[in-house]
Amino acid sequence: MSTGKQQTWGGRFSEGPAQLMVRFSESVSFDKRLAPYDIACSTAHSAMLAEVGLISPEERDAIHAGLKQIGAEIAAGTFDWSIDLEDVHMNIEQRLTERVPAAAKLHTGRSRNDQVATDMRLFFKDACRQLKDSLRATIGTLVDTADRCQGVQIPGYTHLQRAQPVSMAHHILAWVEMLGRDLERFERIEDQANWCPLGCGALAGSTLPLDRNLTARLLGFVDRNGKPRVCQNSMDAVADRDVFLEFASACALCGVHLSRIAEDIILWSSAEFAFVSLPDAFTTGSSLMPQKKNPDAMELTRGKAGRLIGHQSALFAMVKGLPLTYNRDLQEDKPPVFDALDTTRDCLAVLSGTVQGMQPKMAKCAAAVKDPALLATDLVDYLVLRGIPFRHAHHIIGALVGMAERTGRKLTELRLEEVRSIDPAFGEDWLEVFDLERAQRMREKPGMPGAQQIKDRIQYWRTQLS
Ligand code: ARG
Repeated sequence: MSTGKQQTWGGRFSEGPAQLMVRFSESVSFDKRLAPYDIACSTAHSAMLAEVGLISPEERDAIHAGLKQIGAEIAAGTFDWSIDLEDVHMNIEQRLTERVPAAAKLHTGRSRNDQVATDMRLFFKDACRQLKDSLRATIGTLVDTADRCQGVQIPGYTHLQRAQPVSMAHHILAWVEMLGRDLERFERIEDQANWCPLGCGALAGSTLPLDRNLTARLLGFVDRNGKPRVCQNSMDAVADRDVFLEFASACALCGVHLSRIAEDIILWSSAEFAFVSLPDAFTTGSSLMPQKKNPDAMELTRGKAGRLIGHQSALFAMVKGLPLTYNRDLQEDKPPVFDALDTTRDCLAVLSGTVQGMQPKMAKCAAAVKDPALLATDLVDYLVLRGIPFRHAHHIIGALVGMAERTGRKLTELRLEEVRSIDPAFGEDWLEVFDLERAQRMREKPGMPGAQQIKDRIQYWRTQLS
């Protein structure tokens, strides 16, 4: 980056800013990422200025051609960014003015306050679309994985203690539901972002005959019927950072979901669980222990959730005490949301890659789910269906479990006379309860891990994604 003179606001100053201040104050090192949105914003603004007669059609065309050229240079990496020009807005405007004299009129009826607010709303609409695409891709991979794991039964856990059998597909589809809600959340945030602040000026609009509806329409800030959506209070428009907070919160929540999924996968891949093996491409070795295969991708995903929560906290803390309207503190609003986008997108892609290569270990899963105690609750239901009140039934099966434990046997190793000695309600068929297939078959109700339920849900998500 080169240095240059501060000409945009230098009029009332006799001395330039200190070098330290220049470095402290600049944002172009990170907000240059907004260049495509800033150029779109200036293109629309100048088109509107021409439409209402504030600039001539020739001036507009010259500005448009110059902006196009600058856009190409930025994309090619040949644009000369300068930290003396503070931010992306002034860099582009200054370079444009050096080449196109008419660009001195570009900032007519506009402030960097409504400009940056507009750039960022364009950024958020784009960011939400990107994350929705990433989420759809990851959900698709998870649904495929669930599909191939339908026949794999594993214990489901509460308190990290084996609880009841479920198919691995059902567990994976739980992850899908979590990410499905994230998808909806980003959809809603995209809609929240879809309001145009441009024309609100520094805070009080402008005396000039601006056509706010036109710029909003040109930038795509329209509702379903094509009606322009312009922010309805000029002070709120430049002070509002709700979309930042919502976006960072949604990323934090998505990160927390990904972290919980990652933790499940880390446990599953440990020798203690050994439900799955992970692909080489998303694991790493140890520099010391040659036998190690570590689930680093999932651990990093878990770690990055903390970073996403940090971004959300940083933004809430930053906005909390700010008086209306714009304050320079707000320049700090960009790095957290940029990183939130990048981190969330990377974590989603990494989960996709990991799960794609994840293989269930059939024998280990079968051994883990074999313990008949996992079906003790089904045995309670068996008694309930034979007319025993639930609380009594629970107590009876508890006594059965106790008897098995005391005599060092499995529940299924108790004899009919023994179980009948605890309660005569047990029939000859009591051992049928311990059939995993029966357990699954009896759970064909909405949301339950019945085989057909799982098939239907897989189909639901496939349709949803297509
Ligand atoms: N770089 C600034 C930011 O990101 C742009 C707005 C500057 N406005 C101002 N009044 N200094 O917040």
